[in-house]
Amino acid sequence: MKENIYIESYGCQMNFADSEVIAAILTQAGYALCDTVEEADFVLINTCAIRDNAEQRVRHRVRELRAAQNRRHTLRIGILGCMAERLQHRLMEEEENVSFVCGPDAYRRLPNLLALVRQGQRGAEVELSTVETYDDIDPVRLSGNGISAYISIMRGCQNFCAYCVVPYTRGRERSRNPETIIREARTLLENGYREVTLLGQNVNSYRWQGPNGTTAVDFPDLMARVAELHPQLRVRFATSHPKDLSDKLLQVMAAHDNICRCIHLPVQSGSDRMLQLMNRKYSVSWYLDRVDAIRRYLPDCSITTDVIAGFSTETDDDHRATLDLFRRVRYDYAYMFKYSLREGTFASRHLPDDIPDDIKTARLNEIIALQGELALENNRSEIGRTYEVLVEGTSHRSKERLFGRNSQNKVLVFDKGDAVPGTYRQVRVTDCTAATLLGELLPQ
Ligand code: SAH
Ligand code: SF4
Ligand code: F3S
Repeated sequence: MKENIYIESYGCQMNFADSEVIAAILTQAGYALCDTVEEADFVLINTCAIRDNAEQRVRHRVRELRAAQNRRHTLRIGILGCMAERLQHRLMEEEENVSFVCGPDAYRRLPNLLALVRQGQRGAEVELSTVETYDDIDPVRLSGNGISAYISIMRGCQNFCAYCVVPYTRGRERSRNPETIIREARTLLENGYREVTLLGQNVNSYRWQGPNGTTAVDFPDLMARVAELHPQLRVRFATSHPKDLSDKLLQVMAAHDNICRCIHLPVQSGSDRMLQLMNRKYSVSWYLDRVDAIRRYLPDCSITTDVIAGFSTETDDDHRATLDLFRRVRYDYAYMFKYSLREGTFASRHLPDDIPDDIKTARLNEIIALQGELALENNRSEIGRTYEVLVEGTSHRSKERLFGRNSQNKVLVFDKGDAVPGTYRQVRVTDCTAATLLGELLPQ
């Protein structure tokens, strides 16, 4: 009988995309996927190391799984992803019920690793690669609604922002062969999918140079090719590093209606001094120039961001500069974090983590409160507008309502009427909260 694998994922979209590659590798090797820990022979936890609280969550989960292991001694736990790469053998020493660790570039070796573990051994595969992109692997769609899917277009990162662990857990930046990306998107389209999100830590530095004489493919070229597969296939992407956001990309977006009007442009701080310490390689005025360019080429584009409160030596003035920037840009959505020192980063070696936790929290809360107000004002100004919505499914709150997203990636909730998930419908906004637009379905 086949042995069962249960995969649990934490962290960014790239990790969720990786879990689908892992599922493909293991099903090809003869394992079956299951939906609960109770049915599983192996629990695989695909982890994130970006902040300490992400790691603590995983450790808590690993300890919680001891109970299931006490009930069933054959149950084995493996840690995959960024925490496995960061901590390597240490993780197995610290968490005794973990049988193996496997880093993000070593997933092809999972079948060997699992075979070893079945013989009662423990193992670690944590070597990083400069070339691995899993480009020949057709991911098994896990969390899917059958409508929207992720496609990894590159791996790794070498921007070395001073606070960030990703270059150490994911290795060197490398781009995936565009032909395999197009093939994956086409297969999704043929299987009824209507939205793909192209993923990389810094998609704007995507670049593929084929064999001698062939022209290079950059990110705007790739976007155009995916968008031209079919007008009914929406294309999204994440994440854009502001330093590399080109006018060429904005022009390609403007020329294709099915490239969604939403750009995630993490700013991290509104203070030039902080940006320099963070090694972000742009200034506030450069960032605002990119925001202006977005508004010029794509007047209806939403802009979202990431921000860190309480980075090394951040003063009240630096913090106020971040609040000012938020007021100026008026983000549609923001992911807001407290600075968390990560071992091995430039900041951990050279910059003091000197902002007391209560001040970090107070600053974060101030940013969250401001963003809440701005988002609500933004949403209020949407009332009366009509959007094309890709219907995704039943609303979590009511079976009588459906939800979907507009091109700007805002969620709209509306009475279901005759709408069907997986189709496009016109919805008029009638009301809102800070997070959601409420609307009415227009006749077809
Ligand atoms: N590649 C993306 C970001 C990936 S990590 C980019 O450069 O935009 C997602 C977000 O986590 C980052 O944008 C940053 O805001 C946050 N982050 C990263 N390291 C962090 C740390 N040490 N402490 C707090 N937040 C962090
Ligand atoms: Fe981390 Fe910076 Fe790379 Fe983003 S660009 S993953 S923040 S090092
Ligand atoms: Fe976390 Fe790794 Fe993504 S550290 S944010 S899962 S690249």
